Amino acid sequence: MNHASFASIHNGLRSRAVAACVGTVALVASLAAAQPSGVVFSRHNLSASGPGTVKAVSEDQVCIFCHTPHNAAPVQPLWNRTMSISSYLPYSSRALDAAPGQPTGTSKMCLSCHDGTIALGALVTAPTPVVMTGGVTRMPAGHANIGTDLRDDHPISFRFDSSLASRDRKLRSPTGLPSALKLDSNAELQCTTCHDAHNNTFGKFLSMQNSVSQLCISCHNMGTTTVTGHNACNACHQPHSAPSGPYLLRAQTITTTCLQCHNGSVATAPNILTATNRAYNHDTASMVDPPDPQQSHTTCVSCHDPHTMGTGRGVAPAVHPNFGRIAGVNIAGTAVEAAAYEYETCLKCHADAATILPRISRRIVSNNTRLEFSPSAVSFHPVATAGRNSNVPSLKPPMTASSLMYCSDCHAADGARSVGGSGPNGTHGSSNPGLLVERYDTADNSTESAAAYALCYRCHDRSNLMSESASSFRYHKKHVQEERTPCIACHDSHGISSTQGNATNNSHLINFATNIVTPNTQGRLEFIDTGTFRGTCNLRCHGDNHVNKSY
Ligand code: HEC
Ligand code: HEC
Ligand code: HEC
Ligand code: HEC
Ligand code: HEC
Ligand code: HEC
Ligand code: HEC
Ligand code: HEC
Ligand code: HEC
Ligand code: HEC
Ligand code: HEC
Repeated sequence: MNHASFASIHNGLRSRAVAACVGTVALVASLAAAQPSGVVFSRHNLSASGPGTVKAVSEDQVCIFCHTPHNAAPVQPLWNRTMSISSYLPYSSRALDAAPGQPTGTSKMCLSCHDGTIALGALVTAPTPVVMTGGVTRMPAGHANIGTDLRDDHPISFRFDSSLASRDRKLRSPTGLPSALKLDSNAELQCTTCHDAHNNTFGKFLSMQNSVSQLCISCHNMGTTTVTGHNACNACHQPHSAPSGPYLLRAQTITTTCLQCHNGSVATAPNILTATNRAYNHDTASMVDPPDPQQSHTTCVSCHDPHTMGTGRGVAPAVHPNFGRIAGVNIAGTAVEAAAYEYETCLKCHADAATILPRISRRIVSNNTRLEFSPSAVSFHPVATAGRNSNVPSLKPPMTASSLMYCSDCHAADGARSVGGSGPNGTHGSSNPGLLVERYDTADNSTESAAAYALCYRCHDRSNLMSESASSFRYHKKHVQEERTPCIACHDSHGISSTQGNATNNSHLINFATNIVTPNTQGRLEFIDTGTFRGTCNLRCHGDNHVNKSY
């Protein structure tokens, strides 16, 4: 052994070239000169003098648990352990581009202790296994025993090359890896890419510091978030024994991962759990890797991209900063990678491929909110574009006929800050049916009050609507207050698609609820727009037969 190779061993033992000439003398010599961060002072010193709890009763050689100068197992460098013959379950997820198979190369070396199937003291050079303290044979259960089920561990033993990086744009090119991170000679990512079994300088034998996720972002380019509570990957991820399996999350599902902090336990993190616990909520919490298409499965990341979101609400109709670069569907029905408007996020699930049925049975039946709110629709609330009606006398300032609004102006948690409450904003859950932010009574014979239709009265002035002289429909008072007819009997809160209705029969969001309003004795059920604040009705309601009844 020459001086140069001797030095390289105790200077972190990096040089592969010296592996072939590592000898007993060199190994023993290196012990004497070992650094505090080196093997000797780490849990990888399994000899009787080791600092950890897992160690031999009397064996005093350090390197021997992994290396031998003679009769080595047929694995470089001079491996002294029996390799596991276990069959492993590799990591997988729907988003994964790589296809990891059985572990290869140096990962198999690590797994010869860390999969927990082989006695720690079972050495090629020892006729009987080295006896460990406390009766320990294999790796004790716990964080260091990662098992043979690697579906909950960071993927390993696959080629990380520029072809993979070009398929997954959230990966950096492996050609720019920091020198501390090494792929093996087959360009495969192994345990030894992230870990250095000989050097515990950074803790957990990491190849480099990971205090602010430097290790992770050396390879992953997820985008940037300005949310203080999310600045480290380990807020949500853990590289081993991750409870979720796919995506390596800290809890079993996406939702439970987020709710670890958003459940009231972290003072600065809005408490979303109180909202999702309400009767009408937006969550199928049991999913971590929902199948495509995802219309029927909602998790936090259906609306918030965990990697690029910021904080705060936007100005309608712009997408909220706290959504980040979230995928959507635009009002023309085309999928977009990053929604520009809040409603584009909702259209992924509540438009052409909607799976949930309308709450109210109506003359014109639709659950396609894309067509209901389309600029070509007959009449609509101004979510995607300014409304059709320029004369809306009930509107309260700052609302005008050219205002735009969010879906979440109607659909959000009751008690949200956005409506003057103190609870969190957002379409998470509400005690009001239809996930409505305020009360909106829909039963026939509902008694009118400021509270009963609070949802509408936030933007539409109650006294204007109920005035017999100032209202656009002077019989609002008669129907709503005297006859106790709910708004839904006549109005559809979303809009009426031009593929289903027309400007004569369905202006002013008129689309009768058929559980309350039925055809008249002539079999007609229609509203006819006859000009500004004028119209004619043919229908039967509350026992009254309207035949060409006009206002
Ligand atoms: C817990 C297991 C373990 C112990 C203990 C251990 N090594 Fe290693 N050693 C490894 C593994 C795994 C590799 C292969 C690393 C690689 O290829 O990246 C390795 C590689 C080496 C190499 C080749 C150079 C390199 O880094 O690729 C040398 C030299 C070496 N070890 C020396 C030693 C010496 C000397 C000791 C005792 C002070 C020691 N090792 C203790 C696991 C261990
Ligand atoms: C000879 C058996 C053996 C081999 C081979 C081995 N380890 Fe370990 N490793 C251990 C033991 C024992 C512990 C301590 C377990 C404990 O304290 O519960 C440990 C602990 C660790 C820890 C946790 C350290 C901490 O501070 O909690 C990491 C990380 C680790 N090993 C990584 C590796 C990697 C990566 C490899 C392969 C390059 C490897 N080990 C090879 C036996 C081994
Ligand atoms: C992509 C990087 C990466 C790869 C690949 C990787 N690890 Fe880790 N490993 C980490 C990080 C980061 C930690 C520290 C986690 C922490 O502190 O919470 C860690 C921790 C550990 C621990 C300590 C247990 C724990 O949860 O803290 C062990 C044991 C371990 N790794 C072994 C392995 C083995 C064996 C392999 C290969 C089968 C491997 N690692 C592959 C990044 C990696
Ligand atoms: C040396 C490069 C490297 C490092 C360091 C690294 N990763 Fe990875 N990681 C990859 C590659 C490559 C993939 C495979 C991506 C693919 O095929 O889609 C991957 C996959 C993943 C996956 C699974 C992705 C999926 O689509 O299912 C997660 C989650 C992940 N890494 C998180 C982390 C975290 C957290 C860290 C830091 C502890 C980390 N990675 C460190 C290279 C790395
Ligand atoms: C606020 C929680 C959170 C933080 C912080 C976070 N992630 Fe994620 N990550 C998730 C969730 C949830 C998923 C799974 C759903 C999805 O794909 O959006 C995921 C998926 C992934 C994936 C696989 C899917 C993909 O888009 O490629 C990778 C890789 C990943 N994260 C890496 C990272 C890295 C690296 C960091 C740190 C820079 C990080 N994550 C920070 C929550 C988070
Ligand atoms: C480790 C704790 C933690 C986890 C896990 C976590 N968050 Fe957060 N989150 C916070 C904290 C703390 C804040 C407030 C900090 C700030 O405003 O910068 C926050 C802020 C947010 C905001 C911005 C709110 C605003 O001000 O507009 C959103 C949205 C959010 N989190 C969603 C999520 C989602 C989705 C997940 C899961 C993918 C998640 N969080 C996981 C701690 C966490
Ligand atoms: C990933 C698909 C998905 C996305 C994106 C989505 N939703 Fe939903 N939504 C659902 C599902 C599924 C339900 C049924 C309840 C459940 O199981 O979560 C639902 C329920 C609702 C309800 C309650 C309906 C009722 O009758 O009780 C409303 C209102 C709603 N969503 C509005 C929205 C709005 C507004 C957005 C955009 C901010 C949105 N949704 C985004 C899938 C989605
Ligand atoms: C002006 C208030 C308002 C706006 C804006 C609004 N909704 Fe609604 N939405 C309601 C009301 C009220 C109901 C339930 C009663 C009804 O149909 O009138 C409802 C019902 C729903 C339902 C349940 C199924 C159904 O059709 O009855 C879903 C899903 C829904 N809305 C999604 C959305 C989406 C997505 C947006 C934005 C693209 C949106 N809503 C915009 C008021 C609104
Ligand atoms: C966040 C504010 C807001 C809320 C809440 C709201 N509206 Fe409106 N509404 C508007 C605006 C703005 C217009 C003007 C659109 C236009 O100019 O065509 C409007 C217009 C209307 C119109 C007239 C449409 C036309 O084409 O003539 C009707 C009818 C209507 N709203 C009914 C309701 C009902 C019923 C509710 C309760 C379910 C409600 N609104 C809740 C803001 C709101
Ligand atoms: C259907 C879409 C949707 C889903 C699913 C969703 N959110 Fe939201 N979230 C919103 C909307 C809309 C807002 C309101 C934006 C605003 O006003 O700040 C919001 C706001 C937030 C805020 C900021 C609240 C505040 O008052 O500042 C946090 C934090 C948040 N969401 C976390 C989560 C978490 C955690 C989950 C999963 C349990 C989740 N969201 C699921 C749509 C969603
Ligand atoms: C019996 C049917 C009926 C009921 C019930 C009804 N409306 Fe109307 N509403 C109309 C008709 C018809 C118009 C169209 C008036 C016109 O010709 O412009 C109208 C117009 C409106 C307008 C548009 C212009 C304006 O600012 O006045 C709003 C807003 C409105 N209604 C809100 C409501 C609300 C809120 C409720 C429940 C509290 C309600 N309506 C109940 C029939 C009804």
